[in-house]
Amino acid sequence: MAEELIISTSTLKDERYQMLLPQIKELVNGEPDLIANLSNIAAALKQSFNFFWVGFYLVKENQLVLGPFQGPIACTRIDFGKGVCGTAWKERKSILVPDVNKFPGHIACSSASKSEIVLPAFKNNDVALVLDVDSDVLNDFNSIDQKALEEIMRIIESVL
Ligand code: SME
Repeated sequence: MAEELIISTSTLKDERYQMLLPQIKELVNGEPDLIANLSNIAAALKQSFNFFWVGFYLVKENQLVLGPFQGPIACTRIDFGKGVCGTAWKERKSILVPDVNKFPGHIACSSASKSEIVLPAFKNNDVALVLDVDSDVLNDFNSIDQKALEEIMRIIESVL
């Protein structure tokens, strides 16, 4: 595995993701421990984009439970169908929220969070975990983030 993350100097999101994706593949390659892999992925995303909050919630029995993350402390448990994370779990799809105040039932772990994107990863056709990325800027995520972060979810599925 790489000793040091190489971060693109480009100001273009797409180029930054294109440099990050192969390194994420390399980071998890051959490592079977899920928590170790999710921890490094959260750190790599934080280092590359300095997201306000980036981390994982894992499906455990009938709730999402906080997993590896980078950022301020967060809610530990989220119910099925609740908040953006629980909705992504229920609807089995990525959810991009340009303005969290306009998302009914949004769970405000931090009042500084303004926009958010949540993406599920599947195991045996069930949602196994979600990636949640929060920004303190409105409308901070777009289809470039969604496409690249979905690729990261597919990498995670390959080691789930
Ligand atoms: N805002 C999320 C809760 C998790 S925190 O933002 C880290 C939600 O509505 O599900």
